[in-house]
Amino acid sequence: MNGLRPLVVDLHCHLLPSLDDGPRDWEEAVRLAAEAWASGTQVLVCTPHDMAGAYANPPERVTAQLRELRRRLEAAGVPLALRAGNEVYLEDESLDRLRAGQLNFLGSEPGAPGGDPGASRRGHHRYLLVELPVGQWPLNAEELLYELRVAGVTPVLAHVERYEELRAAPERLGRLVEAGCRAQVNAGTFAGREGTRLQRQAMEWLRAGWVHFLGSDAHGGGRRTSAMAEGRSWIARQRGGARLLEQIDRNAAALLAGQAVPAPA
Ligand SMILES: [Fe+2]
Repeated sequence: MNGLRPLVVDLHCHLLPSLDDGPRDWEEAVRLAAEAWASGTQVLVCTPHDMAGAYANPPERVTAQLRELRRRLEAAGVPLALRAGNEVYLEDESLDRLRAGQLNFLGSEPGAPGGDPGASRRGHHRYLLVELPVGQWPLNAEELLYELRVAGVTPVLAHVERYEELRAAPERLGRLVEAGCRAQVNAGTFAGREGTRLQRQAMEWLRAGWVHFLGSDAHGGGRRTSAMAEGRSWIARQRGGARLLEQIDRNAAALLAGQAVPAPA
């Protein structure tokens, strides 16, 4: 219990147009946001890709788009709350970009220095959503994740169910969580969109305390649409699911408040 009100948060979404392979225009972004709100999402974290040589979305770029979308949502009467972030493709250069203030911490308030209102506050936890190559787990992945921890950042592994290495050896995920990483699963996986095997595995990991957050990873354009409501209702119907869902919502509220997200032993 962290004393915070649980929140339904989509922690991973490509909602901002013109930054990556997300929505093509503002109309599509507003439509996606309205759908998210209507299906129960209260806070949505905008996580455009950051990938060397492909996508650079530093705080000033994300802030400009996010403010514009906030204006448009207000005009459209959509009370969905937005926060900033990146989905960082983790490689050696990511550490340099982090140190140079070029990355958006997960769930940060846009416009704050470095996108991080609590940077100077003692005890404030900072999170970064990171992805790794899905097909081949890099040899130095654990080392890079460790470097992030040393830099004072808690890595949140994006769509953790998609990595073949972790599916084949789940204890590796357990070790990463023990070492301080946290993990996000796509709601669509819980909704069964990736098949029953993966759905069951994700549920096992959630029960083991190895899954902490949900995200839609929606991109708009009919591809990878949001399945937050569907995924949440599937979890709620499983044994002990309602309690696990509440824990997810408490975790999200803690992240947004810059607090620690515990991993049950
Ligand atoms: Fe993504």
